[in-house]
Amino acid sequence: MIEVTGLTKTYQLGLVKVAALRGVSVRIEKGEFIGIMGPSGSGKSTLLHQLGLLDTPSTGQILINGTDVSRLDDEERTRFRLMHLGYVFQDYALVTELTVKENVALPAITQGKPVEDAYAAAAKVLENVGLNRRLDHLVHELSGGEQQRVSIARALVNKPEIVFADEPCANLDTENSRTVLELFRSVNRDLGQTVVMVSHEPWHTEYFDRIIAIRDGLLDEKRMGREGHDN
Ligand SMILES: Nc1ncnc2c1ncn2[C@@H]1O[C@H](COP(=O)(O)OP(=O)(O)OP(=O)(O)O)[C@@H](O)[C@H]1O
Ligand SMILES: [Mg+2]
Repeated sequence: MIEVTGLTKTYQLGLVKVAALRGVSVRIEKGEFIGIMGPSGSGKSTLLHQLGLLDTPSTGQILINGTDVSRLDDEERTRFRLMHLGYVFQDYALVTELTVKENVALPAITQGKPVEDAYAAAAKVLENVGLNRRLDHLVHELSGGEQQRVSIARALVNKPEIVFADEPCANLDTENSRTVLELFRSVNRDLGQTVVMVSHEPWHTEYFDRIIAIRDGLLDEKRMGREGHDN
């Protein structure tokens, strides 16, 4: 479970201050598939980065499974990310010099698994995303949709409790977007993993259990909780 209280984030751009988050309090239950939605510049990525411990808020508190993550030092944060969280980005963020299998094994190796075990775990999760025939390919030999599935496999290899995704379908066509959304839905349903995904595509809401809507750095109460797939 994620509990956020009074979260603010202000960026300093030279003399100008940009208040990207202006006091967000929200709760995400274990096993929810959440869509963070809102207009461009509303603070979606900023919120995701604070929740995913990729950035530190200006003020406010974030509890993840009861741990006050704002109190962790750098080393503890890194460890927390590695043990509990997974990430998928719009641009895939894969290592181009490595093969598909090596990319996916990386978080498992970093976690301290023996290399052979990490490769076995990578092969298994790649099979789940339908890429078992691409293990030894280099990343650039794959299509965009396939690369995003590799990055999802990488996010899942350590079986994180929470998967964060920032517009993972932004560079994909509708068919590949559906494949990605269905993968998230199946890990969410089958493994009970919490998925928190930023999107600005209205049709994605049919996959979400609940929407966290933001506008100008605040929760957009009118749109909050509107359930996509039940309406
Ligand atoms: N590193 C940064 N330095 C300064 N300002 C930033 C930084 N990151 C974001 N901002 C500003 O904070 C506000 C929120 O940005 P954010 O990236 O969270 O929006 P977003 O909702 O993800 O938008 P988009 O849909 O375009 O991705 C914007 O005004 C943006 O310009
Ligand atoms: Mg963004």
